[in-house]
Amino acid sequence: MSLGLENKRVIVTASSRGIGYATAKRFLEEGASVVISSENPSSLKRAHESLSGFGRVYSVQADLTKPEEVKALIERGRSLLGGLDVLAYVTGSPKPGNFLELSDEDWYKAYNLLLMSAVVAVREASKHMESGGRIILTTSVTLKQPIDNLDLSNVVRLSLAGLIKSASRMLGKKGILVNGIMQGWTLTERVTQLAKDRAKREGKSEEQVISEIVSDVPLGRIAKPEEIANVVIFLASNLATYVNGAIIPVDGGWIRAAL
Ligand SMILES: NC(=O)c1ccc[n+]([C@@H]2O[C@H](COP(=O)([O-])OP(=O)(O)OC[C@H]3O[C@@H](n4cnc5c(N)ncnc54)[C@H](OP(=O)(O)O)[C@@H]3O)[C@@H](O)[C@H]2O)c1
Repeated sequence: MSLGLENKRVIVTASSRGIGYATAKRFLEEGASVVISSENPSSLKRAHESLSGFGRVYSVQADLTKPEEVKALIERGRSLLGGLDVLAYVTGSPKPGNFLELSDEDWYKAYNLLLMSAVVAVREASKHMESGGRIILTTSVTLKQPIDNLDLSNVVRLSLAGLIKSASRMLGKKGILVNGIMQGWTLTERVTQLAKDRAKREGKSEEQVISEIVSDVPLGRIAKPEEIANVVIFLASNLATYVNGAIIPVDGGWIRAAL
């Protein structure tokens, strides 16, 4: 069955690696044209080269901590694609740490990286979706259940729940469906970084930390990035025509809250 994504024009932010990269690849496999982006020119070039075999891909360098670069990314992306149908928003990771040790500068940086990048990307992308569209924001399970020593994510990222709800009410009227994903532990460089940090704090080996993480997931394993990307694809597809303002966990059952 066709998902209706052939020739759709898609921007995927923070997509040189990890979840963003897997998302861009899945859109290309479905026949969409995709703009990928990240702040690092060499990793962006590497991603572009490896994705170009899958379909029509363009790349635009942008640092998501800089609102003017986010705005320019959406404008340049729209121009390269000749329009815009889907924004799949992913962002870089905030620094690990708790509120007693994080500096004011860390908080302001996380505010720009995790919140302002989304506000600007959603606002600017929606201006170009004259005949409707889809906006999918990947966030984190920390929206539902805080993770120790990830206070920037626990606090700042939580605001995306409000953004998704507010934007879905306003943009739904224009046929633009706005949804979110709360992804859980996913096998990317982020998990390696967090395992290193936790191992150091708790005096354990990285392997021990990973095995503790895995044992807390009912499915008994960490997700592959494609498993998060597949839900983004679903939300962008013609199978999800009445899903709006939803924030869907994709976490193997890790979140303990019943609602
Ligand atoms: N992996 C998990 O278990 C997990 C779970 C929940 C939530 N998350 C969140 O999901 C998001 C993606 O995670 P991931 O696991 O895919 O991470 P990842 O493999 O480390 O990839 C991060 C991506 O973000 C880009 N990036 C970093 N800082 C950026 C900036 N300032 N401007 C633009 N791009 C930037 C990186 O590009 P460069 O090549 O330029 O560095 C890379 O493409 C993160 O926000 C992470 O915190 C991850």
